[in-house]
Amino acid sequence: MRIVSLSCLLLGLVVTAGCGRLPGQPTPSQVPLEPQQVTNFVALYRENCAGCHGSHGQGNAALSLSNPVYQALVDDATLRRVIAQGVPHSLMPAFARSAGGFLTDAQVDILVRGLRANWSKPNAAGSAKPPPYAAPTNAPGEARRGEAVFAKFCARCHGADGTGGGKMGSIVDGSYLALISNQGLRTTVIAGRPERGHPDWRNCLPGEPMSPAQVSDVVAWLISKRPAQSGQPYASSSETRN
Ligand code: HEC
Ligand code: HEC
Repeated sequence: MRIVSLSCLLLGLVVTAGCGRLPGQPTPSQVPLEPQQVTNFVALYRENCAGCHGSHGQGNAALSLSNPVYQALVDDATLRRVIAQGVPHSLMPAFARSAGGFLTDAQVDILVRGLRANWSKPNAAGSAKPPPYAAPTNAPGEARRGEAVFAKFCARCHGADGTGGGKMGSIVDGSYLALISNQGLRTTVIAGRPERGHPDWRNCLPGEPMSPAQVSDVVAWLISKRPAQSGQPYASSSETRN
C-alpha cells in the first residue's frame, strides 16, 4: 500500500511539474526509429550499404556506386531490381522484404533516388556512348575472340594470362570468379574501378574505346575461366548464372 501511494505521489509530482515524463525517460526525438521508419537516404545507405560499397560510395570490397560512369551506365529499374533482389551467386544481398530482406519498397525507392541525387553527374561519359549495360541476348560474346581482346586491352596491367604479378592479384582465380556475377564482370569492364586504378572501357588503351563486341568477348573469356563447380557455395549448381 505504501509503495502504491508513494508512486502515486511521485507521479503526481511529475505531472504537476508539467513535463509528463519520468526523469531519465527519452524525449520523442531520442526514441530510436523502428527500422521501417528510416526514410533518410544517408542513414539507409550508412546502415545497409556503406560496409561493402564505401562510406561515401567510393567503393570498398564492392564497386564504387558514386563512380559517375557507373551512374551513367545503369538505369533506375536495374538499380531497384538489384537492391531489392540482390545479385545471385555474389555477396550482394537482397534487401526487399519480399526477397527476405529488411527494407520496404518505399525504402528501396529512397535508396535509388538518393544514389542518383548524390552521385549521378550529367555527361559523365562525355560524348562517348557506353556499351549497353547488359550483354545483348543475340550477341553474348565469344571467349575465343575475347582472348585476343584481353591481350590487346588488359594484359599490360593484368599479365598475359590474367594471373597478375607483382602487387596485382589474379582476375582468373577460381575463388574470385565464383563470387562475382557475369554482369558484375561486365560492369567492371565498362565502368571501371577508378578507385583502384582499373580504367573504364574508354581508357584501357588510351585513345581507343572498346567496342560493345569487344566488351562482350572479353567478359565471355573471363567467364570461361570460372571453374564449373567452384567451391560449391550454392544449393543448386544447375541454375543458370546471370
Ligand atoms: C591500367 C591498368 C589496367 C588495365 C589496362 C586494366 N585493368 Fe583491370 N584492374 C587494374 C587494377 C589496378 C585493378 C585492381 C586490382 C586490385 O585491387 O587488386 C584491376 C581490377 C580488375 C578486376 C577485378 C575487379 C574486382 O572486382 O575486384 C577485373 C575483373 C579487371 N580488372 C578486368 C580487366 C579487364 C577485362 C581489362 C581489359 C579490358 C582490364 N582489367 C584492364 C588495372 C587495369
Ligand atoms: C555484403 C556486401 C554488400 C552489401 C551490404 C551491399 N552490396 Fe551492393 N554489391 C555487393 C557486391 C559484391 C556486388 C557485385 C555483385 C556482382 O557480382 O554482380 C554488388 C552490386 C551492387 C549493385 C549492382 C552493380 C552492377 O553491376 O550494376 C548495386 C546497384 C548495389 N550493389 C547497390 C547496393 C546498395 C544500394 C546497397 C545497400 C542497400 C548494397 N549494394 C549493399 C556487395 C554488397
